[in-house]
Amino acid sequence: MLIRRPSDILPSEITPRSVYLNRRQLMGGAAGLAFAAGFPGSSGAASLTTVKSPFSTDEKLTGREDVTSYNNYYEFGVAKEAPATYAKSLKTTPWTVKVDGLVGKPAEFSVDDLIKTSTLEERIYRLRCVEGWSMVIPWDGFALADLIKRVEPLGSAKYVAFETANRPEEMPGLQSMFPVLDWPYVEGLRLDEAMNPLAILAVGLYGDPLPNQNGAPIRLVVPWKYGFKSIKSITRISFVEKQPETSWNRQASDEYGFYANVNPSVDHPRWSQKTERRIGEGGLFVKRRPTLPFNGYAEQVAQLYSGMDLRKFY
Ligand code: MTE
Repeated sequence: MLIRRPSDILPSEITPRSVYLNRRQLMGGAAGLAFAAGFPGSSGAASLTTVKSPFSTDEKLTGREDVTSYNNYYEFGVAKEAPATYAKSLKTTPWTVKVDGLVGKPAEFSVDDLIKTSTLEERIYRLRCVEGWSMVIPWDGFALADLIKRVEPLGSAKYVAFETANRPEEMPGLQSMFPVLDWPYVEGLRLDEAMNPLAILAVGLYGDPLPNQNGAPIRLVVPWKYGFKSIKSITRISFVEKQPETSWNRQASDEYGFYANVNPSVDHPRWSQKTERRIGEGGLFVKRRPTLPFNGYAEQVAQLYSGMDLRKFY
């Protein structure tokens, strides 16, 4: 497989550091920088060198403070501010991702090696959470398809299963007597969904290594699906024949399906999915935006579901 190394990348394709610095200044100047320097695992770590992606949206970015302080990461508590406080305890280096199952070349990849040997792109994507809010986030990552090609899936592989780290000693939510979910957090995609060029493994945001609360050191981002599909802090990726279980589908199958494509015409049983609130655009009373089918990515992904009843396969 042809892997583009930094020396092959045209200087014009690299997002200049000044762009990130300008963004940070827009987002709160010195306070923003101090906050960035305080990220667990990233203090002193080099910022990431990325190339631009044609798949990025040009919508206004959600401020870095919002992206890194309003999170869902139930291993660290269910309150939105809990992950930013408690995820510091997760040790993210060294970190490996085991890739196994129905593949010709099973492997265990170190995240550092993946970063060195992949073409990192800045992908500015919307993330639409099933709870009704959305953000626009400058992720840094590489195509999931690139990793999949390295391990050579067998013809019998139809689905890809993902698993988050299972570390009760570092994840307070896993120590609870009344666990919110059946740990470890697991997710899945159909192989053709996983191969779609929009699906990425993110290792950074805003040009720096991922903060722990956003899923350090490596997380999935599937922009046309509700946010819960974008599993954080991945330790294992397995290729399987049958549709794998997912955490939220196990928990409440009538509320969270396997596909979880953003779909304004399929309501959650307890609330509508027709509109969303963009984080950072003002308080609870700000006008909500209409939610777009497949979160606005229909042109790239709708064909994956042709002939399927998306009310049944929600
Ligand atoms: N991954 C794990 N392991 N645990 C979680 O609780 N929450 C999901 C997803 N990935 C979650 C997870 C949900 S519901 C959302 S909306 C996104 O992460 C939020 O990502 P963000 O906090 O980076 O915005």
